[in-house]
Amino acid sequence: MVKDKKITTSAHEALGEIESDKKRHFNVVFIGHVDAGKSTIGGQILFLSGQVDDRTIQKYEKEAKDKSRESWYMAYIMDTNEEERVKGITVEVGRAYFETETSRFTILDAPGHKSYVPNMISGASQADVGVLVISARKGEFETGYERGGQTREHVQLAKTLGVTKLLVVVNKMDDPTVKWSKERYDEIESKMIPFLKSSGYNVKKDVQFLPISGLIGANLKTRMDKSICSWWNGPCLFEALDAVEVPFRDPKGSFRMPIIDKFKDMGTVVMGKVECGSVCEGDSLMVMPNKAQVKVLAVFCDEDRVKRAGPGENLRVRLSAVEEEDILSGFVLCSVANPIHGVTEFVSQLQILELLDNAIFTAGYKAVLHIHSVVEECEIVELLQQIDPKTKKPMKKKVLFVKNGAVVVCRIQVNNLICIEKFSDFPQLGRFTLRTEGKTIAVGKVTDLA
Ligand code: GTP
Ligand code: MG
Repeated sequence: MVKDKKITTSAHEALGEIESDKKRHFNVVFIGHVDAGKSTIGGQILFLSGQVDDRTIQKYEKEAKDKSRESWYMAYIMDTNEEERVKGITVEVGRAYFETETSRFTILDAPGHKSYVPNMISGASQADVGVLVISARKGEFETGYERGGQTREHVQLAKTLGVTKLLVVVNKMDDPTVKWSKERYDEIESKMIPFLKSSGYNVKKDVQFLPISGLIGANLKTRMDKSICSWWNGPCLFEALDAVEVPFRDPKGSFRMPIIDKFKDMGTVVMGKVECGSVCEGDSLMVMPNKAQVKVLAVFCDEDRVKRAGPGENLRVRLSAVEEEDILSGFVLCSVANPIHGVTEFVSQLQILELLDNAIFTAGYKAVLHIHSVVEECEIVELLQQIDPKTKKPMKKKVLFVKNGAVVVCRIQVNNLICIEKFSDFPQLGRFTLRTEGKTIAVGKVTDLA
């Protein structure tokens, strides 16, 4: 589900082993409605950080023109598949790296189109920080923000998937319908704030708004040029990213790395983000739930081979003693002494967002469960308690069904063993979403492992 996953091992291994450097590192997912400009901003960031030369840009300009998608050339840096370029939409999560003075970033460019929400979920589940891209162009902010628009869905998903900090970039400020209008920017900000609050974000602490243009590269790497926009005195995107405080993860805790993908490359290589603990070359670990004991042959962080890597890192880990066929995405690489639990049933607290056709939610309800990198069919087997959303206390009455907006404690069953944790122990491995027919209907957290 993630592009550019091949490691150019020979080249990097020839360079020798590089210790993971001291710069802090985090993963940033770009989310937001289709065509908001996520890939364009991602491409522009790579261009501004010197990773794409002018010749390549010219080549993309020509290719985009040939496809009658002139303005998409910046997005082509991130959208590398032919299908994506022809249609002008991202399908698979794009991955890229860049650095500032103090931090290293992995950017995950999620698709905005509603058909690819599962790919967006896989991208967001790897990130601590989200850049929510909103188009200021007349009509586009409105469509994205409507019920059923992906601005809403992505925010709710991001929050549940553990994206704790959000930068809200109001993009396309250069568009002829916007012309860097402060009124338009303020309108979007004032409409977004109550919604972000209702989705669980602390707007003062965890959210920062800024105006940008991905296409012309304004207010990204350097502060806003006053001749372009006179009223903005705040930070540019790179500064805002540098200033984000990422949540603490324990480098000494029990190792947990959900596997998002795997492939064969001189052994079995698994990809994922370390949620807890550290990994070193030579470590003995376990793949759960199939309890395969493995040895770590090599660890790759971004492009480089490293001796050890800690929490928050996106890794490719080469393993011995396990076949690629025996690993599925959703499995978890973990410590032998304290492995993750494998369960087929668990208790959760769910918030019902929007049921299809106002259906009722009751025992027997079937949905698709997304939890870290796991995607499994599931069934609600029992409703245990309804929670009063105002007092957050359980209601006395026995509950048989609930409707939109309800908060309910229920028991959920899956057919195959899945590896999860209680939210209170490992938040990143204990929060999930339920989807039916391509729509997110509920978000929840694991309260008990049955
Ligand atoms: P999906 O991946 O399909 O969700 O779309 P996206 O959010 O990645 O949008 P993309 O970067 O593909 O851009 C969509 C269109 O918006 C392209 O035509 C871009 O040129 C245009 N666009 C993006 N950013 C800007 C901007 O800052 N200003 C203007 N005027 N147009 C922009
Ligand atoms: Mg895109």
